[in-house]
Amino acid sequence: MSASDVELRVVAEARGARERAIAPYSNFQVGAALLLTDGRIITGCNIENASYGLTMCAERVALYKALSEGHRQFSLVAVVADTSDPTPPCGPCRQLLWEYCGDVPVVLANLDGIKARHQMRDLLPHPFDGRLLS
Ligand code: THU
Repeated sequence: MSASDVELRVVAEARGARERAIAPYSNFQVGAALLLTDGRIITGCNIENASYGLTMCAERVALYKALSEGHRQFSLVAVVADTSDPTPPCGPCRQLLWEYCGDVPVVLANLDGIKARHQMRDLLPHPFDGRLLS
């Protein structure tokens, strides 16, 4: 699957973030990276804890980092895990990525490289979002 330079850069950042995953309970390390429209990249890794249920996915760590630093314009999401079938964002992460990033491309990679590309609208069809609240 041929990849653009920017995709490779974002995936490399997600892969680096994965190395910082704190996943002693599942041993399932995930890295995520969000490309901002200004070219900067914000990363996240999954963070688990002893009560399990407070675990935070890599995607949401990256998203909350970005939002808390004032970034609101996103153009690409990358997720890296060590699975032969690429690991997509879970349901709650899809909801939040949709609400804050919109219909961006989502690039899924494993340690061999990029394995799939999706659009957010395909990962979360018929979404609930703020448009319905107004
Ligand atoms: N996880 C993520 O960080 N992102 C995903 O897209 C799927 C799952 C994490 C949560 C938990 O720490 C571990 O992977 C196993 O579910």
